[in-house]
Amino acid sequence: MFSRSIWGLLSTASLALAVAIPFKRATVCNGHAELCDRSYGNVTFVAAHDSFAFSEDPLALARDQEVDIATQLSLGVRMLQAQSHVNDGVLHFCHTSCALFDGGSVEDYLKTVKTFLDANPNEVVSLLFTNPEGQSPANVWKPIFDSAGISDLAFVPPSLPMSQSSWPTLGEMIDSGKRVVVFMDAGADGSDSVDFIMPEFQMMWEPPFSETDPTFPCKVDRTSGPLQPAEQMYMINHNLNVNIVPLFGAEVLVSDPLAAPTTNGADSILANANGCAPLAGNRAPNFLLLDFVNIGDAFKVADQLNGFA
Ligand SMILES: *[C@@H]1O[C@H](CO)[C@@H](O)[C@H](O)[C@H]1NC(C)=O
Repeated sequence: MFSRSIWGLLSTASLALAVAIPFKRATVCNGHAELCDRSYGNVTFVAAHDSFAFSEDPLALARDQEVDIATQLSLGVRMLQAQSHVNDGVLHFCHTSCALFDGGSVEDYLKTVKTFLDANPNEVVSLLFTNPEGQSPANVWKPIFDSAGISDLAFVPPSLPMSQSSWPTLGEMIDSGKRVVVFMDAGADGSDSVDFIMPEFQMMWEPPFSETDPTFPCKVDRTSGPLQPAEQMYMINHNLNVNIVPLFGAEVLVSDPLAAPTTNGADSILANANGCAPLAGNRAPNFLLLDFVNIGDAFKVADQLNGFA
């Protein structure tokens, strides 16, 4: 009898404790209270194109950014795009080739991202990595995510493909601790796939890339279906290239830093978004992929498209 009442007392006490310390929900998500209740698929994020290819040197033609990853994140970039290549047996992020621009190892890069995530527990961050050499998600990529401490934070889709309307809210993602969203352009849907590395083009479409027309005419260029474009998220490739033929005698496209203030200005980004919206059920783009993210109005435009400005 006595021991029973002790147990009763204990369980009442622990119940009281559970009630007294309710689960703490995020009240601000990616900087805005409103975003906690908004589905990931209904948010516009600023994305950094070739995020690793940063340099302050204006003569570094292969750079696409001026400021480093930590600075991009602190400015408000919430999708980091990067292109992988093996250098000396180690997976690096490089621009076209590691001889041209080597941004260091993927592991070091992810550790930088992890530092930001640890310091900013109410932020959802997306990673969009290209895999032109077809490195195995399970055998090459996952061990790197593991050693950088990112795997446990990665969102695992309940099923594929995820339609634009089926994503959890940012609040749910933050509360569950699964607040890193990983997309890969190629090789993520084979037999060596990894549950948190999602095949990009099942979930989103893109207009043409390496655009040289400053009016950014929009059309659906890359998608893998089976969802219709209007059922997918989409990313605008809002980065302008110039052809430096006179220098090399062949078509060589490089990003155009001189045009960045105009390209990254509100008028140009909004015109691109408006041009694409009819292809997406009149929704705003999910991702604004930009060169030189520190220049121009991208963050203001994202706020506006999210309804905050
Ligand atoms: C989110 O939904 C609102 C209301 O339907 C829409 O105006 C906006 O364009 C959507 N944004 C995205 C990125 O889906």
